[in-house]
Amino acid sequence: MTLLTMEGVYKRYGGVQALKNASLSVNAAEVHGLLGPNGSGKSTLNKVLAGTVRPDQARIAIDGKPVTIDRPLDAYKHRVSAVYQQLSLVPDLSVAENLLLGTELTRGPFVNNREGRLYAEAAIEPFLSGLDTGFSLDKKVATLSPGSQQLVEVAKAMARKPKILVLDEATASLRRDQVELVFSQVRRIVSDGVSVVFVSHRLEEITTLCERATIVRNGETVATVSLADTSEQDLVRLMVGDEAFTPSQEGRRTNEIEGKPVLTVRGLSAPGVRDVSIEVRRGEIVGLGGLQGMGQSELLHALFADIPRKSGEIAIDESSVKTTNVRSAIRAGFALVPGDRGTQGLLMVRPIQENLSIASLKKRLVAGLFISMKSERKAADNEVKQLNIKIGELSDAVSSLSGGNQQKVVIGKWLLNKPRVVLLDDPTKGVDIGSKAEIYSIIRDLASQGVGIVLNSSDDKELLELCDRVLVMYEGKVVDELSGDSVTQDNLVAAALRVGDKEGDDGQEN
Ligand SMILES: Nc1ncnc2c1ncn2[C@@H]1O[C@H](COP(=O)(O)OP(=O)(O)O)[C@@H](O)[C@H]1O
Ligand SMILES: [Mg+2]
Repeated sequence: MTLLTMEGVYKRYGGVQALKNASLSVNAAEVHGLLGPNGSGKSTLNKVLAGTVRPDQARIAIDGKPVTIDRPLDAYKHRVSAVYQQLSLVPDLSVAENLLLGTELTRGPFVNNREGRLYAEAAIEPFLSGLDTGFSLDKKVATLSPGSQQLVEVAKAMARKPKILVLDEATASLRRDQVELVFSQVRRIVSDGVSVVFVSHRLEEITTLCERATIVRNGETVATVSLADTSEQDLVRLMVGDEAFTPSQEGRRTNEIEGKPVLTVRGLSAPGVRDVSIEVRRGEIVGLGGLQGMGQSELLHALFADIPRKSGEIAIDESSVKTTNVRSAIRAGFALVPGDRGTQGLLMVRPIQENLSIASLKKRLVAGLFISMKSERKAADNEVKQLNIKIGELSDAVSSLSGGNQQKVVIGKWLLNKPRVVLLDDPTKGVDIGSKAEIYSIIRDLASQGVGIVLNSSDDKELLELCDRVLVMYEGKVVDELSGDSVTQDNLVAAALRVGDKEGDDGQEN
């Protein structure tokens, strides 16, 4: 019996058509898998269901009745709960307070009433064996390990007694035993008639937990299959499509890059990164692929020394560098372009000129020069011209620019610093198509000047189009390397899901 249908779902973010005519049909008492490459629209579809993304068009029915879900409260009323990989807990509140947040029990300033306490205890009870030692409901969420926080998140969603539960990469940061706990609770609620939409980067989890799965590709639903009757190769084929993506006119770089490495990394470990060794040659663009959240971003930040490293050696131009903080990383020749421009890359309310010169300020001070406004202005002016940043005045606030042009400012501020290695962390996420193409040509340009590039992208097409080589990451490790003709979307998806690789893995450490 069908419990949920979503049909004709469309959603556009700026220049990106995230969903076009997507659909999903889930039975009562079913765990339904949702499969698709990175960026295919799975999370957007789930967020439409949970009311956190407003679709351009959608027909949704629950229990055969049409419903409108325009905001989270609507989803709550229809008893839809969702858990994502990114946590939504309030770090400064206790576990109990978080569990009660948004329920009727939080009326009034205190949640320490008996009813609330019982609710919280019942919610957390099934997950106790997977939580940190010394766990208590009164601990602040911020003090828990990431895995425990994720379990609290799942407990919170299940405690609301949803009719439909969405688990979108919700097991990504969990250890095997914690995943098992979640699975057993999922099975329990499903036997009570609840429907679960399940997204996981571990194909094995999907085949273990689900009987059916719906496959999305480029924002469209391509099929719903019975997993028992579908081979892993067929799943990959469905996800990738027959006309696998071929790069645009400029074409993928297929240079055999010879010559000296500009970056050498040996045995690097950091939170989320396990024993990574890589080499990047001058002028080479090396991609970091795989499913999102497999340590790609953490690797870049560990190289940039803005997260602590546990071990590892780094050399630039074959001489070892000791980088213990961002300042020393910049001095050694690193630049990092974050994807999240608003929070990491830019001072939004400050002038464009100031944003452009801020990264190189230190360098010029170190050189013993005082900064003349005139030279700052000239450098910024040059950068704006070179990168074709469309601005009004250098004195305008960065927030006045379009997303793509803001991102070019982020890149520009680093180029003033003449880096040897540029680390790009999902640089075009949410950027419109025109600016995307311009950012691509900036990246190619940098490479042709001999800079080494490491590019993390949540968009497989970007990797295919730009990279000479792609390293595929899985749970913090580099598990595969694609180069030359083997850089294809099929290989990328298969490597990301580790199709044909049955080696067990116990998941991330917390
Ligand atoms: N808030 C956003 N702003 C702009 N683009 C977005 C946003 N969220 C997702 N996208 C884009 O929409 C597409 C689908 O993303 P998503 O639903 O997260 O895919 P999946 O979960 O399958 O990886 C991608 O191209 C992604 O970059
Ligand atoms: Mg997603």
